Amino acid sequence: MTQTQTRRATFAALAFTLSAGMALAHGDVTPQPVNTEGLPELTDGWEFENPFRDPDSPYWERALRIGDSGYNQNCARCHGLEAISGGLAPDLRFLMAEEMDDEWYMERIRRGSGDRMPAYEDLMNQEAMWAIRTYIEARPDPDAMADFMPRLREIRDGLRDKQEAIADGSATVEEYAEEIEALHAELHAIALEIPTMSGAPKADSIARRAAVILERGGDRFLRDADETLTIGLSVSR
Ligand code: HEC
Repeated sequence: MTQTQTRRATFAALAFTLSAGMALAHGDVTPQPVNTEGLPELTDGWEFENPFRDPDSPYWERALRIGDSGYNQNCARCHGLEAISGGLAPDLRFLMAEEMDDEWYMERIRRGSGDRMPAYEDLMNQEAMWAIRTYIEARPDPDAMADFMPRLREIRDGLRDKQEAIADGSATVEEYAEEIEALHAELHAIALEIPTMSGAPKADSIARRAAVILERGGDRFLRDADETLTIGLSVSR
């Protein structure tokens, strides 16, 4: 073998290993059913526009959660984790959150595209398709996110310190109530600063998710908010 041939062979082997690894990392290869419990049934035929788009609707949060898992189990292996495309398939975050691109989206997900993109019409219901749409269009703009990463890391560390102090008995959650409320308000304010790339009205950033968890309260809320921020900080680039 010449040097170039050897290099090519090595590259081909590497490319194969990478794509095999990626398929695993990007979730299951067989289509996964999507459980749409909690979303209203769409009984008027096919909608033209995402019925779950309004962030003030009671279904937005639910659609996001269902869409997150539906996307990651069915689409991420080609379209990328968090909908950030690695180049195998188009980056779906750039589809505009409006009727024209909704139609394009529905056409593609229902019928597929050539032999490179599977059809999902027989694999999931319309509610699941729109839930995935809701998840995709709410992805935050990574450049805007990057600006807030250092501060989000500090907030995460602050929450972790409090959680540890509470766990070892040196403080109570009540003593921290005011500080936690201030961090919650700041997370909420940061979330409002982060746009989507699709023009959808509200981004589903880790700041937003952590703020929602702090609002929820409960036994594990500090740990859950810490975890949400930590995962987000580690996947962001
Ligand atoms: C096996 C890989 C693969 C999977 C899995 C896959 N897609 Fe695709 N998808 C593609 C490819 C490749 C294209 C580009 C096809 C073309 O140009 O004809 C595409 C195109 C699209 C488009 C059109 C994008 C544009 O900008 O024109 C949409 C929308 C889409 N896919 C949504 C989805 C959704 C939602 C899922 C999961 C339910 C999914 N895809 C699963 C490979 C995939």
